[in-house]
Amino acid sequence: MTLDGGFDAWAQRQLDAVESALDAWVPADAPVGLGEAMRYGVLDGGKRLRPLLVLAACETLAGDAAAAMRAAVAVELIHAYSLVHDDMPCMDNDVLRRGKPTVHVKFGEAQAMLAGDAMQALAFEVLTDEAGIAPALQARLVRLLARAAGHAGMAGGQAIDLASIGVPLDEAALRDMHRRKTGALLQASVLMGASCGQPDATAWQALADYGAAIGLAFQVVDDILDVTQASETLGKTAGKDIDANKPTYVSVLGLAAARRHAQDLRLQAQAALARSGLADVDALATLADKVVERES
Ligand code: IPE
Ligand code: IPE
Ligand code: MG
Ligand code: MG
Ligand code: MG
Repeated sequence: MTLDGGFDAWAQRQLDAVESALDAWVPADAPVGLGEAMRYGVLDGGKRLRPLLVLAACETLAGDAAAAMRAAVAVELIHAYSLVHDDMPCMDNDVLRRGKPTVHVKFGEAQAMLAGDAMQALAFEVLTDEAGIAPALQARLVRLLARAAGHAGMAGGQAIDLASIGVPLDEAALRDMHRRKTGALLQASVLMGASCGQPDATAWQALADYGAAIGLAFQVVDDILDVTQASETLGKTAGKDIDANKPTYVSVLGLAAARRHAQDLRLQAQAALARSGLADVDALATLADKVVERES
């Protein structure tokens, strides 16, 4: 199924479809420039890893592709909103994102806050549009996304992140923060895609374990790239974590151990796929490799 023509061709097809869907959903005509700020923050940039995870998990289970595309759009909207707010002066105070000035630099702080708010609301509108997904699946997708975005997930993790400036966290506390602020939304991406099919209990648990492993790995690698890459490669300001005195996998474990940990998590993700009982997990396996091997 998924990988006719190889992973790259599969991924390009998905990326094109996700871009068109985002372009169709994010309004240009929201009042007084809000639409422009939303579109600036969401379109034309970003690796779109979360949508790819949704779509790959759905295809692995031969699930409802139209529902999965809505889920992919919704999760990317939540992610993009989290970036807009993460960059604001009251949070990480960053001026560069996805190779461009951040939304608050370009449109002002109030508009950036509102653009993030509106993206979050739009994510749930996309999932619950009456012409769209079967009601039971809608409810399940909304719950997975809300749980991962809110106090138990991204927003809670971001609160811990800001409360941890200058605080020497131990590895368990760091892991907990990373799982919430970044891991939860990545795991939810996998489980939202899986929910569009009919996974049995074994497959569901394996995909949850896979999502947890790559979710944590993603932020471990983000911490590594912050010290090893240049801003031009990242499309965001390098060296921010040390400057801001944030505890990271690099500051707590050291660079070499952080790299080993990312590789361990990759193996954990692959082991989870191997025990899923699912026949075709190639795209998910390649995505796990890419999470760990990426350079931006
Ligand atoms: C950056 O996420 C923020 C984190 C959660 C670490 P990505 O690296 O996925 O950012 P984009 O979407 O590609 O810009
Ligand atoms: C952000 O972590 C996680 C989010 C929920 C957005 P970072 O603050 O490390 O992300 P970057 O490095 O700015 O992308
Ligand atoms: Mg941050
Ligand atoms: Mg940041
Ligand atoms: Mg970072």
